[in-house]
Amino acid sequence: MATDFTEETAADAVTESFAPSTNPRLREILTSLVGHLHAFARDVELTIPEWETAIDFLTRTGHKCDDDRQEFILLSDVLGMSMLVETISNRKFGVATESTVLGPFHVVESPVLELGANIDLVGGGTPCVVTGRVVSVDRTPLPGAKLDVWQANDQGFYDVQQPDVQPRTNGRGLFTADSNGEFWFRTVVPSPYPIPTDGPVGELLIATGRHAYRPAHIHFIVTADGHRPLTTHMFVAGSDYIESDTVFAVKKSLVVDFAKVTDPAAAAKWNVAVPFRHAHFEIVMQPGS
Ligand code: BEZ
Ligand code: FE
Repeated sequence: MATDFTEETAADAVTESFAPSTNPRLREILTSLVGHLHAFARDVELTIPEWETAIDFLTRTGHKCDDDRQEFILLSDVLGMSMLVETISNRKFGVATESTVLGPFHVVESPVLELGANIDLVGGGTPCVVTGRVVSVDRTPLPGAKLDVWQANDQGFYDVQQPDVQPRTNGRGLFTADSNGEFWFRTVVPSPYPIPTDGPVGELLIATGRHAYRPAHIHFIVTADGHRPLTTHMFVAGSDYIESDTVFAVKKSLVVDFAKVTDPAAAAKWNVAVPFRHAHFEIVMQPGS
């Protein structure tokens, strides 16, 4: 039955237009989305110029995207949506290591490296040894677990951001845990860095008086047979912006001490010069597929 379109009936008019054959999950998502969207417009009494500004913003966000740049993901990141979806999808399982965002810089296949290799191909930063162990929730070690690792350099840039300065795959490695589930590699302490701000997302940050920085971190994707894949970070304790990550990705359990080591015997053991930093990351995987 045709009815006048009113503020009160608007959302129902839209959702009742969906065909009975609509996929049930799509119907559920769109019904909720339209309901919230209409409620938002009524709540703020959205004006036509404001809606046009929003459409122009989203249009420019789309135009900023290409094969190397995904401005919509960046928008989702700074609005907290990426972390919210991540957190819903990976609700904390008891003692399992928490997940966090993937980010846009996992773009090249990491080189397969031996345990102990140095992923810093340039030198110049503060040397750092990362050690750890991959275990299941009952603490059984997971030999053969794969660890895909990537990080920004000590200046806060990923290799792909500086193709003329850094060798491709600088700061990246694919490691296999040993028979005890243990892993170790050498690197430099990463720096905090700004997310790209030369697009609409940068405008949004300026308009809302926000900074663009992420605290220093190392990314991990860990996979082990019979366990759920884990996408996470190791955050450098005491890093700037640890309390105000612009993409809201810090979880306290992922903040790790990068302890200063001056003992020459320890340096010899790990094949680095003193002083160096040592960070240890125990990774607890959740059984499942
Ligand atoms: C990153 O950690 O690489 C990242 C995550 C979200 C937005 C930008 C960068
Ligand atoms: Fe990152």
